[in-house]
Amino acid sequence: MKYFKWYTWVGIGLVFFILTIALGKFTILVKEVAHTESLSVIVNSEQIDTGIRMETETKESDSFTSVKRVPFLQMKEIDVPIRKWATEQEKDFYQEMEANETLLNKGIDAHFSIESEIRNLSDDIIQFQMSVTQSVDGEHEYKLNKTFTFNRKTAKLIPLDHVTKNGKQYKKGIAKVINKHSKEELDNELIKERLQSMDAIAWDVDETSFTFHFNPGDVSQKNEKINIPLSEFYHYITDDYYDLLINEEMEQQINDLEAEKERKKQETLAAKKQIAITFDDGPHGSETDRILNALDQYDAKATFFMLSNNVKTYPGIAKRVAEQGHEIANHSISHANLKAVNNEQAEKEVKDSAKVIEDVTGIKPKSFRPPYGNYTDDVMDFTVESNQSMILWSIDTADWEAKNAKQIQYNAVANARPGSIILMHDIHKTTADAVPKILKQLKQQGYEFVTVSELQESLGDDEYGPIYGN
Ligand code: NI
Repeated sequence: MKYFKWYTWVGIGLVFFILTIALGKFTILVKEVAHTESLSVIVNSEQIDTGIRMETETKESDSFTSVKRVPFLQMKEIDVPIRKWATEQEKDFYQEMEANETLLNKGIDAHFSIESEIRNLSDDIIQFQMSVTQSVDGEHEYKLNKTFTFNRKTAKLIPLDHVTKNGKQYKKGIAKVINKHSKEELDNELIKERLQSMDAIAWDVDETSFTFHFNPGDVSQKNEKINIPLSEFYHYITDDYYDLLINEEMEQQINDLEAEKERKKQETLAAKKQIAITFDDGPHGSETDRILNALDQYDAKATFFMLSNNVKTYPGIAKRVAEQGHEIANHSISHANLKAVNNEQAEKEVKDSAKVIEDVTGIKPKSFRPPYGNYTDDVMDFTVESNQSMILWSIDTADWEAKNAKQIQYNAVANARPGSIILMHDIHKTTADAVPKILKQLKQQGYEFVTVSELQESLGDDEYGPIYGN
């Protein structure tokens, strides 16, 4: 008696009270459905783990059997949703029986069961893996999986989107990797839709893989169990759960994999010796043209992150940038600090600017660079939604501050290496003065000047970024 406080017992009593009422209601429903008076109900309960009891309820009548094995923790926040779910499943079954009453009257049996397994995902994280089987005439068997994951210490259920990263770029990535490991080709849009209601998806993780259990109709007609090796999924697990769910051995494997990936990337970059020069805040009435001439002279391609307000002011210059084969990219409407404005404004700065730039130049921007490099998770989502990549930089020439061509040239060249993304602004005279010198010097060093979209491929980063360059 000393293990539980008085209110715990009151709570337990209350739960049983509610269950008794629920059971009573169903017994009436069952009797109506099965037209039988001979319903027997047996309830058993056994301790199966510290603090966990398994409750087995068996019902038997002339036309059906039902076995419900449901764990019981004496933790309200976990027990109540599980009971509620189990009750709904049973209700579904009775409705199914009702719909097939004629079959049942011919003496065909119906069966219902909920089986539960308990898995310790870590010391504190426990998962109940439940499976429902319904069959009314044997041929119409229906199986469904559901998981309830909780933290034993905090007594709280853990939704899947606390375990996996939530941004749109991650959902797209998860959809892709799910499809890659599915036995049949699935519709990516359908998977993404399912991932919106992460909580409804059953899942599991062990030492080597992360598994999704989709139910019939979720992503295909049948049950789809999709195993994804952790080496391909760790990237999507949130920091909060990474250490809890990934053991040391796997972590070592992942670190080795990352190191190997980085080594290969540097090898590729060194072989190609590409560099991406980028110009922000334009187009400008006179300096953009001077820079275009210099780029032309050195047969160099660059990327221009334009403000759509300036594109409206200088449409001819924006078009010339496009005509010379440079990448037309997006740098917002008005150079707003996207961490400081509200979400509605931030969305406009990301998406509306892209539309204006496309209207004027005929080219839909693929790359977005937030002013000051400032962005939020929502800004990242807006970028992904409009199919743009988030592009930052690895070399800041600080040209807006230096206002000195020699200094700008030094800042650009001193730290340049294969795969660098160099940040400049085509609105300063001193920057336009420095560009031919920078191009000459880097060309002598054997660099090829490419757009950020071209460089992205060699960098091997995630499609939507954020991409910093080497
Ligand atoms: Ni800027």
